[in-house]
Order: sequence, then C-alpha cells, then structure tokens
Amino acid sequence: MKTQQKVWLVTGVSGGLGKELAKSIYLSGDIIIGTMRSEKDKMLFEQDFPQRSKAFILDLSDTGKIPVVVEESVKIFGKIDVLVNNAGYGLFGMVEEASEEEVRHQLEVNFLAVWKLTQAVLPIMRQQKSGHIIQLSSRVGISAGVGGGLYAAGKFAIEGLSEALAQEVSAFGIKVTLVEPGPLRTDFFGRSVVFAQKEITDYHAATGNIRERSKQMDGKQPGDPAKVASSILEISRLENPPFRLPFTQATLDTLQQKIISYQQVIDDWKEIAVQVQY
Ligand SMILES: NC(=O)c1ccc[n+]([C@@H]2O[C@H](COP(=O)([O-])OP(=O)(O)OC[C@H]3O[C@@H](n4cnc5c(N)ncnc54)[C@H](OP(=O)(O)O)[C@@H]3O)[C@@H](O)[C@H]2O)c1
Repeated sequence: MKTQQKVWLVTGVSGGLGKELAKSIYLSGDIIIGTMRSEKDKMLFEQDFPQRSKAFILDLSDTGKIPVVVEESVKIFGKIDVLVNNAGYGLFGMVEEASEEEVRHQLEVNFLAVWKLTQAVLPIMRQQKSGHIIQLSSRVGISAGVGGGLYAAGKFAIEGLSEALAQEVSAFGIKVTLVEPGPLRTDFFGRSVVFAQKEITDYHAATGNIRERSKQMDGKQPGDPAKVASSILEISRLENPPFRLPFTQATLDTLQQKIISYQQVIDDWKEIAVQVQY
C-alpha cells in the first residue's frame, strides 16, 4: 500500500450516492471497503473495483455484525482513514400513521447502525491519531416537513451525535463532517422510501397526499449524486474539512429559513427566556 493511499469504509455501495462514492474513491487510487446487502451486489462491486477493495455483506439492522466488518477490514488493510455512514432509507408517513415496528427498524438502520459503526472505528482512528467520519444527514436533518417526521428523527439524531462527536475527537486529530444534501437523483424515491403501512386518508385534504407527491419526485431531483461524490472526495483531502457540507439550493434555502425562524424565536421570547434565571 502506498503511504498516501487512504482506506475508506463506505456503507450502502450497491447504488445511488454510495456507488458514486465507491467509483470516485477507486478512481482516485484509494482503497474502498464497501458494504452491501446481497451476494449479487457483492459480485458486481468486486467486478467493478478489483484488487484495491473489499466487500462485506451487511444489513445494518443486524448491528451485531458491525464490529466484525471493522475488525476484518483492519486485519486486511491495517487502518481505516475514512468512514462514510451512507446507507439508509426513508420511512415516510404522518406521525400518527407509523407503527412502533416501522419506527424501530428505521431508527436501527438510519441511526443505531451509524452510532455503532462510528463507535467501532474510533479506537482505530484514536490510535492512528487521524481519521475522518462522514455522516450522511440530509436537508431533512435541518428541518422537517409534513410526512417526513420519522425520517427526520433519524437524521436529527445523526446531527446531534455528530455535533458532540466532533468536539470529543478533535484532540485526537479525527474530523467529522455532516453531509446535508437536498433531493439527489438516486434510487431513494424509487426503492428506498417505505411508507407507513397504515394510511389515514383524513390527512389528504389537510396536508396533501405525500405518497403521490413522493412518486412524482422520482427521477426529477435536481442534485447529481456523482458531483456530490466528487465533492466529498475533495473535502476529504483538506487539512480542515468542513463540519457541515450542504448540497443543492434546497438545503441552502432550508438553512436560511432556519436562521430566520430561530432569530424570530430569540426576538419574541428573549425576555421570558432569561426571566426564569435565579
Ligand atoms: N437521495 C436523496 O435525495 C437524499 C437526500 C439527502 C440525504 N440522502 C441520504 O443519502 C444516503 C444514500 O441514499 P441514496 O440517495 O444514495 O439512496 P439509494 O440510491 O436508495 O441508496 C441507499 C443505499 O442504502 C442501502 N440500504 C438501505 N437499507 C439498508 C439496510 N437495512 N442495510 C444496509 N444497507 C441498506 C441500500 O442498499 P440496497 O441496494 O440493498 O437497498 C443502498 O445501497 C442515505 O443515507 C439517504 O438518507 C439522500
């Protein structure tokens, strides 16, 4: 292995952003460890990225397997420089519609597995005194909308975890980046969105039919995942990568609206907020 060559561990490389990332990483000359769920995707990955790669079958709802993937990776390549917690899916539906089982599964995949993978690479990165943890959040990790509360709950959780983590590990030379894309033209709305099984049609008149709206978005998203992938590769080369990395105009607009609405909260409530102090 060349000394400059980085070892990346990326979850969910079977399609979408994960696949684009794997391509960019491989083309740059780095080593790509990818996780996927099926034997077929493993075979395709091994064909596309020969030699400088390793594939692991990993369903993120099986968090017990995560430490094994990390241990095996270190045995083979001796280090992990960059972890990208990319894999995920969207559970959409009104808060009232979702079942406990649906919410549990989504949080296991979209949050618990992210924490578990992060925790598994930290001893290695601390020892290396270097490393970069890149978390796929979303525009929805900044602000949630109708029908997206459950998906947002997982992304908000990643944001909170990562804000603390960045402060905890900076002394060890470990960097953390939250990637916050708006709509990207991946398979997400095609096959990675699951709707709550229970549908309460009363909501249609009140808020619109989110199931129909999501279908219409598929294939029309403004963001190009290949460009996002090359930007992620670029920032991974920086000595001081950004903590927050927004993509698409939609995320910039969301950030702007959030600033305005928080300023309004301060203006409206500052007297009452401080009034409770001893
Ligand atoms: N596309 C967007 O508009 C958008 C916007 C903001 C953030 N994001 C985030 O970007 C990340 C990548 O999504 P994408 O847009 O590239 O969607 P995608 O094309 O649908 O890819 C999702 C990936 O996650 C994997 N995955 C899903 N459930 C999994 C599980 N239980 N265990 C292991 N892997 C699992 C999928 O594997 P299979 O092939 O086996 O299903 C696939 O590789 C996600 O975290 C998503 O929340 C996407």
